[in-house]
Amino acid sequence: MGSVSLKIGDGTARFRPATICSSAVNILMLLSVVATNIFALYAFTYSSPRAHQTLLHHTHKNVHLISEQVSLILREIDASQKKLAKMEKELLGYESLDLSRPNIASELKIFLDRHSLPLGKDSRTGITEMVASVGHSCEKSADLLSLYMTYKPLGPCPDDWSLAQKLILRGCEPLPRRRCFAKSIPKTGLRPFPVSLWKNVSDKSVSWSGLGCKSFECVNTKKITRECAGCFDLVNGYEPQKFVKARGKNDFLIDDVLTMGGGSIRIGFDIGGGSGTFAARMSERNVTMITNTLNIDAPFSEFIAARGLFPLFLSLDHRFPFYDNVFDIVHASSLLDVGPKVEKLEFLMFDIDRILRAGGLFWLDNFYCANEEKKRVLTRLIERFGYKKLKYVVGEKPDASGTGKLEVLSAVLQKPVRV
Ligand SMILES: *[C@@H]1O[C@H](CO)[C@@H](O)[C@H](O)[C@H]1NC(C)=O
Ligand SMILES: *[C@@H]1O[C@H](CO)[C@@H](O)[C@H](O)[C@H]1NC(C)=O
Repeated sequence: MGSVSLKIGDGTARFRPATICSSAVNILMLLSVVATNIFALYAFTYSSPRAHQTLLHHTHKNVHLISEQVSLILREIDASQKKLAKMEKELLGYESLDLSRPNIASELKIFLDRHSLPLGKDSRTGITEMVASVGHSCEKSADLLSLYMTYKPLGPCPDDWSLAQKLILRGCEPLPRRRCFAKSIPKTGLRPFPVSLWKNVSDKSVSWSGLGCKSFECVNTKKITRECAGCFDLVNGYEPQKFVKARGKNDFLIDDVLTMGGGSIRIGFDIGGGSGTFAARMSERNVTMITNTLNIDAPFSEFIAARGLFPLFLSLDHRFPFYDNVFDIVHASSLLDVGPKVEKLEFLMFDIDRILRAGGLFWLDNFYCANEEKKRVLTRLIERFGYKKLKYVVGEKPDASGTGKLEVLSAVLQKPVRV
C-alpha cells in the first residue's frame, strides 16, 4: 500500500569516507617511515673515519635534522587526520545543524537551543537540559526543515503535511514544529465502533492537500500501489473479503492464523496496512492492531482513523516506537520490500524480531520475490532467525495487469525463545 517508502541515502556512504581516510593516513605513515630511514641511512653512511670531532659534530647535526623532519611529518599527519575527520563528518552529516547559516528559520533556532531544566539536574535520569530531538539526517535536509519551520508562532500552521512527510522519508522527523496549530478538519459522519469498520469515509472529512486525487472515488480508480487496488472501497471489490476469503494458496485466513497462535494473540502490529482492513478484521476478533502507514498518494492515516482503528504515521527507516517483546503478532506484506540492500531488510527484520514476543507470530503475507536472488536473501534471513515455520507457501499470483505472474512467499513464523 502506498503507506511506506524507503528512500534513504546510499548506505555505503558510511564506509567510503573511512576508507579514503585510512588509506590517506597509511600513505602518510609510509612516507614518514621512508623519510626516517633515508635520514638514518644518511646519518650512518656519512660517518667516515675522519676526526672524532667532525663525526660527533655531524652526528649531532643529523640527529637534529632527523628529529626536525620527524616532528614535521607528525604534524602533517595530525593535520591531515583532522582534515579527513572533518570531511568524514561532512559526508555523513553527523555535524550538528549549523545555526549560523543564512536562511535558518528563527523557530528552528529557538527549538534547537538547549534549554536547561528549571530545577537543575534531574536526580533520576541525570539530565540537566532538554535537547532538541533532531536527527543527523536533518542536516542534509536543512533547507527543507527550515522551510517547514517558517511559520507564525501561535498562529495556524501552513497546510503542508506533505512537506513533513517528505522530511520523514529523508529520515528527518519534523518534530520541532510545535508552536502553531495544525489545520483541523471537521470529521462529519463518524459512526460508532464497530459499525465504523466497514463504512465509507466521507471525502470531506480528510485533507486532500498535497495529493493528486481529491476524492476516494479517484483514489479507488487510480491504482496507488499493487497492494491497494481499490482498497478504499469497503463495499465492492475484494477489500471486504480480504483475510476471510482466500484467492489462492498464498492468502491465509485470519482465523487459521489465530488458531496457530493458540488463543493468545491479543495485540499486534501491521506493517504497510493499506486502508486498515487487516486491523478491522482483527478487531472483530477482539485483537487490537496498530497499523503502520504513511500518506503516500492517498489519505491512509485519516481513513484508518475514521474506521476506528489506530494509524501509526512512521516510515520503516525509523526504529519502531515500541518496547521489546510486546506484540503477539506482526503482519507484513510486500511493503517489507525495502529495495536492493540486504542490510535494509535485516535492519527491519531485527526490529520486528525485537518487538515480537517469544512464541509470537510473524505473518509474512504475499511477499513479492522479484527474483531468485531476493528469494534466496529472504529465505536465508528467515533461517538465521530460527523461527518455527508454522506455514510456508511459495506460490504465484497474477500481476497487476492480469497477464503475467508474480512469485510470492507467504509464511506464518513463530518466534523462538532465545536464552
Ligand atoms: C462506497 O464507495 C464506493 C466507491 O468509492 C461506492 O461504490 C459505494 O457505493 C460506496 N458505498 C456507500 C455505502 O456509500
Ligand atoms: C469479543 O469480545 C466481546 C466482548 O468481550 C464478546 O462478546 C465477543 O464474543 C468477542 N468476540 C470474539 C470473536 O471473540
